[in-house]
Amino acid sequence: MSKVNSGMGRAVAEGGKRDATGPKRPKPDRRDAGAPRVDPINLKRAEKAAVEAARSVGLLMRRHLAETKHANEQSQYDIKLELDVRAQKIIERTLRSAFPNVALLGEEGVSGKPGAEHRWVVDPIDGTVNFAYGIPHACVSIALQAKAPGEKESVYADGYQTLVGVVYDPFVDEIWTASRGNPPRLNGRVIKVSNRTRLEECLVSIGFAKTKETLEKTLPYFNQLAHRVRKIRMMGAAALGLAYVATGRLDAYVEQGIRLWDVAAGGFILECAGGEFWREPTDTEQGYRMIATNGLLREALQVPV
Ligand code: IPD
Ligand code: CA
Repeated sequence: MSKVNSGMGRAVAEGGKRDATGPKRPKPDRRDAGAPRVDPINLKRAEKAAVEAARSVGLLMRRHLAETKHANEQSQYDIKLELDVRAQKIIERTLRSAFPNVALLGEEGVSGKPGAEHRWVVDPIDGTVNFAYGIPHACVSIALQAKAPGEKESVYADGYQTLVGVVYDPFVDEIWTASRGNPPRLNGRVIKVSNRTRLEECLVSIGFAKTKETLEKTLPYFNQLAHRVRKIRMMGAAALGLAYVATGRLDAYVEQGIRLWDVAAGGFILECAGGEFWREPTDTEQGYRMIATNGLLREALQVPV
């Protein structure tokens, strides 16, 4: 095991088609039409359990932010902490006691019946590198998904669709919640995406992912985009990036190599807020490339193939 020093001081992101009358936002997907029919789970109860689990991990994250942390693995572009594993265990315990039959797919491992009707998709600490270095920009991301029939846009490559999404930033105590059929909220207040359409006024966040390939693909894109937008941001926590787009703080978030647990909750919250969460699967297991926007910018932000 190696150690990672954090900084000392705890200081404290389909289809926006255009026509002659201007850009149109795709209809907000209020998630009713495509809802799977078999749904014995009470979504409000599920949201409550996810909030409780996220807040418990938030305590752990706050407590350890400024400390030196044990790294289980380190590579050129990534770190995996022992605290990531601990955080997932806390989440598993809380969710299992409320919903014993729901499986769990997490960044730190899976549990429950493979192919279960429902599963939690969990990123116990998103923004691990920030957190490891003592930067208070990281979050907990928890989604509840159900198997869904057909190939609707909202259905992921392996046939699941999100029903509930919770993203929690413990360092500023901001919690985003959404459940199918209800408007998404930040600390209880309804949120929606921005309505900016001109790239030169937009704040666009980019994620560089974790491999040499994604890095090499993203660098030229970054170089071009930097001249077209007001500012580019690289903030290091994909789930928070998506939540920020859902809240209208950012106008878009683009990344070439994310995994399902990074985006299941945030992407759902964004769609519920009227945004567009375009993604397509990559060769990596549960891997996707994504262009997440306020619903008006996808064409302008296409990544050259
Ligand atoms: C990562 C962060 C990062 C994004 C990576 C993710 P992790 O998640 O969200 O911002 O660029 O693609 O894997 O490792 O911090 O949970
Ligand atoms: Ca993550």
